[in-house]
Amino acid sequence: MSNALTLVLGATGKTGRRVAARLRLRGTPVRTASRSAATPFDWSDPAGWDATLAGVGTVYVVPPAVPGPVHEFVTRAEAAGVRRLVLLSGHGADTWGDSTFGLDMRSAEDAVRGSALEWTVLRPSNFDQNFDEDLFHAPLVAGELALPAGGVGEPFIDLEDVADVAAAVLTEPGRHAGRVYELTGPRALTFAEAVELISRASGLPITSTQISPAEYTAALLDQGWDEDDARHVTEMFVLMDSGVIAGTTDDVAALLGRPPRTFEDYVVRVAAAGVWER
Ligand SMILES: NC(=O)c1ccc[n+]([C@@H]2O[C@H](COP(=O)([O-])OP(=O)(O)OC[C@H]3O[C@@H](n4cnc5c(N)ncnc54)[C@H](OP(=O)(O)O)[C@@H]3O)[C@@H](O)[C@H]2O)c1
Repeated sequence: MSNALTLVLGATGKTGRRVAARLRLRGTPVRTASRSAATPFDWSDPAGWDATLAGVGTVYVVPPAVPGPVHEFVTRAEAAGVRRLVLLSGHGADTWGDSTFGLDMRSAEDAVRGSALEWTVLRPSNFDQNFDEDLFHAPLVAGELALPAGGVGEPFIDLEDVADVAAAVLTEPGRHAGRVYELTGPRALTFAEAVELISRASGLPITSTQISPAEYTAALLDQGWDEDDARHVTEMFVLMDSGVIAGTTDDVAALLGRPPRTFEDYVVRVAAAGVWER
């Protein structure tokens, strides 16, 4: 069969590597791509995209951190004979309004949803794994997570659920065409509650502190962050604090036939691996 491959972009990242493993286990022919993956792919180098897309029928799209490139990528995908696109976006992307947060994901949605291909958009909440594989890991190991977040909860989702959904959608042509799935965990937790659960399960003293958005941006800049990135992450907290993305949905349960994993489930699994120890 022509164009039988499923291309996984961002294949070395948190979702991509989980999605690729699930597809391989199902026997789906997979091509994994990123700047450092088996197949080279760089969002800033369109000259290399056609080779990456050769023989591909379905693409899992982890968008770039800047708005724009996905439009040209979709054009190239159409020309290469790709039939389906499954895009990773963010929870409630159509409610972010005037916020400057997520212009990258919103641009990617415009490109994918405007294409002639069969498309599906996955919009997960903040990942549980931000606490051990990303932004919040180092502060937790240092013993204090200071964020511009207070009483508004976030329905953190386990990346194992995001990957289960992505693998199902990627391997069920037709069924998810033109659908936007809002993927959340089973309940919203404040960051203080999340840190308390991590502290208890790991047996380590970890505190959470609420700071202002300006203090958070300043702290990131002190750590050597690029100014745009620091403002972007701060904007995410301002958006969360507004409450527009705090709600849970039933989409994970409807797609997988079981409830989403709990934050407690994530915490005991990760605490047992010792990743929050100093
Ligand atoms: N973190 C959250 O809570 C959350 C929630 C909802 C949505 N999202 C969205 O999820 C996406 C990130 O997904 P993720 O967490 O799976 O990824 P990730 O762990 O942040 O890893 C990024 C992946 O993209 C690749 N990459 C980076 N720059 C690239 C470039 N210039 N060209 C090609 N590939 C590049 C990286 O590999 P190389 O370095 O090898 O290129 C890596 O595989 C973002 O769009 C984010 O907005 C995140």
